[in-house]
Amino acid sequence: MPALSFLRASGGMAKTFDAAWVRSQFPAMDPRRRVPPEIYFDGPGGTQVPRQVIDAVSGYLACSNANLHGAFRTSRESDYVVAGAHRAAADLLGCTPAEVIFGQNMTTLTFWLSRAVGEQLSPGDEIVVTRLDHDANYTPWKSLERVGVRVRDVRVQRKDCTIEMSSVRAKMNRRTKLLAVGFASNAVGSLNDVVKLTRLARRYSARVFVDAVHYAPHGPIDVREIGCDFMACSAYKFFGPHLGLLYGKRYQLQRLPAYQVRPAGNRIPWCHETGTQNHEGMAGLTAAVEYLAMVGRRFGTVGPNCTRREAIVAGMNAIRYYERGLCQRLIRGLLENPDVDLYGIKDDTAFDRRVPTVAIRVRGVSPRRTAEVLAAHRIFVWDGNFYAQNLTEDLGLEESGGLVRIGLAHYNTMAEVDRLLEVLQTLRTIAER
Ligand SMILES: Cc1ncc(COP(=O)(O)O)c(C=O)c1O
Repeated sequence: MPALSFLRASGGMAKTFDAAWVRSQFPAMDPRRRVPPEIYFDGPGGTQVPRQVIDAVSGYLACSNANLHGAFRTSRESDYVVAGAHRAAADLLGCTPAEVIFGQNMTTLTFWLSRAVGEQLSPGDEIVVTRLDHDANYTPWKSLERVGVRVRDVRVQRKDCTIEMSSVRAKMNRRTKLLAVGFASNAVGSLNDVVKLTRLARRYSARVFVDAVHYAPHGPIDVREIGCDFMACSAYKFFGPHLGLLYGKRYQLQRLPAYQVRPAGNRIPWCHETGTQNHEGMAGLTAAVEYLAMVGRRFGTVGPNCTRREAIVAGMNAIRYYERGLCQRLIRGLLENPDVDLYGIKDDTAFDRRVPTVAIRVRGVSPRRTAEVLAAHRIFVWDGNFYAQNLTEDLGLEESGGLVRIGLAHYNTMAEVDRLLEVLQTLRTIAER
């Protein structure tokens, strides 16, 4: 049972969640654009984007496009956009604006961080990683073996694709300098109790890096409550543009070596944000955060004078509560289908241990063929290893095409889940044709 109080908060909602309203915010879901409509269960690879994000990106490029720190209007507006994105990301994560660094994507930021952390380590120091994680939270740390760091893998329990706290504990000792864990698995949806894991790491004075890329669109985040030292997200997974962000505790960012040019100065976060950033992406990030706050004001338990942070948390709780219902229906339906094998947590009531990302295989049909048949029915799902390659290898599925991943988001509906379950009933027959 996670110690995450913000997950327990998902027990109720003041107002009924209106998926039709949500969908009306997303141009991709406009029923006039595609007849019959397409069903987007591909969110874990990148979600759809609400209109206000699209408008913010194009609005920046049309009206405010310039570099920073100039004397003229567009440059001043660009300064404002960049500062605003830092404030928005801080509200999303529960930190201060100076504790957020933007970059190309999570993978690039994590390679940067591993290089910077690596400079502070000595041969014989240890890092603990898990085999449940996306490769972007594995290989950057593994690459430090070249400087003599020992990287220890925590294995995944095959029965439900989760990580046992005792397995993590068994890999940690006085030489452990960093624990790198995922918040939620992008392949099978299991949640890690990042609060407990951080407490465990503290006993060894190890730093903690959390990959929250997959979790971020599904629930509230509070880096102070978690207590981690670093956390990475990608805006394109939570309804924003292609942009990565990294939270670092102020003290941790200050002590990291900065790879910077001389005029950049040595204040955080600027000393770690190299070169010209993606300003239009930052404008879109702020709009994505505003969108989540709007969901909170509409469906959450907040008053009209709440802060943006309070509205975001309420929005993410409302999203989590709604997604729980979708996920239960999906898992129940999948378990009733004798052609389907489900990987990961199978208990349809255990939503406190997972996000609504469900991995399956259809017996006798390759994951790619399954995805092709579903695509022919306008249902979009990913197949393969989703870069969680250690997991598909350990499950013995890598050679045969990995998994089919059904990724639910708050813009999906019960009718879409039912449609998927219906197509899966006859998928084997169709696939053989
Ligand atoms: C859990 C997880 N971590 C990391 C990444 C990599 O993110 P990015 O594409 O921003 O590098 C992904 C992308 O799918 C992911 O799902």
